Amino acid sequence: MQPFQPKTTPERSPYVIAHRGISGKAPENTLAAFKLACEMPGIDMIELDVRLSRDEEVIVLHDRTLQRTSTGNGAARGYTLGEIKEFDAGSWFHTSYSSERIPTLREVLRFLNGRRWVNIELKSDFLHREKPFLLERKVLELVEGAGMNRAVLFSSFDHRMVANIKRVNPEAITGVIYNVYRDFGRLPSKLAGRVGATAFVCAKHELTRGMVRDARQHGLAIYVYTLNTTSNVNRMMELGVDGILSDNADDIVAHIKANDR
Ligand code: G3P
Ligand code: MG
Repeated sequence: MQPFQPKTTPERSPYVIAHRGISGKAPENTLAAFKLACEMPGIDMIELDVRLSRDEEVIVLHDRTLQRTSTGNGAARGYTLGEIKEFDAGSWFHTSYSSERIPTLREVLRFLNGRRWVNIELKSDFLHREKPFLLERKVLELVEGAGMNRAVLFSSFDHRMVANIKRVNPEAITGVIYNVYRDFGRLPSKLAGRVGATAFVCAKHELTRGMVRDARQHGLAIYVYTLNTTSNVNRMMELGVDGILSDNADDIVAHIKANDR
C-alpha cells in the first residue's frame, strides 16, 4: 500500500472515506461495516472513532454511551472490554448483524492489515476527561504495532489530543476537526497551525470559500463530512476538497466514476 498523502494531487478526484465503515449499509464502527468498505474498489480510507473502556482498552465506538448502537447501556468507560464484548452491536441496525461486537482498535487494524488507509478519530469524553496522553499513546502504540504508521490520519474535535499525538510522534499526520460553536471565525491555518496539523476536517454545511482559500494558501488538506447522498459531491469537488467522508462511500465512488467519463 502507498503511504498516505493527506493532499490529493491535482490529477485525481478527492479521497473517498468510509465514515464509520459503510455505515449506511451495515452497523457503524463494526467489522461488518469495515469489511464492506474493503470489498469496494475505489474507497481509499476508513474512518472510525476510538475511546477507552474501563480497563483502558481502545475500543471503536462513536458515542460516549452504548445504548444507541448496542444492547449495552450507559457510558462505555464504565465497562471492561470483557463486559463490552457481551453486547450485540448489530441488531439495532438489522437482525442479520446480531453477531457483531464492538471491536477493539487492535482487531480492526489486524483485519485491515494494510488494505486501506485509516482515519482514527480520537473521541474525548466531556464527563470523563482522560489523563492527557493516555488514549493518544495507546492509539499510537497500536498503529505502530500494526505497522500502519504511514497509513493513518489521526484527527479529533479535541485539538489538545491532536497536539499530543504530534508531540509523541512528530511524524504522525494529523487533522483538526472544526467545531463551529467553539472555532467560529477562526481560519483553518490558525486552528491547524497551533497543533501542527496537516488536514482540516469540516462539516459540509460549515465549509466556506474563505476557509478553502486559507487552507489552500497554507498547504492544508481539506476533508468534508458527511456526504451521505451524492447531491453535494460535485459542489465539493468544485471547491477542491481533498477528501469526502460518507456513510455511503460506495455510492460516492460510483458517482465520481460516472461523472469522470
Ligand atoms: O471526522 C469527521 C466526523 O467523523 C466527525 O464527526 O460525530 O461523525 O465522529 P462524528
Ligand atoms: Mg468520527
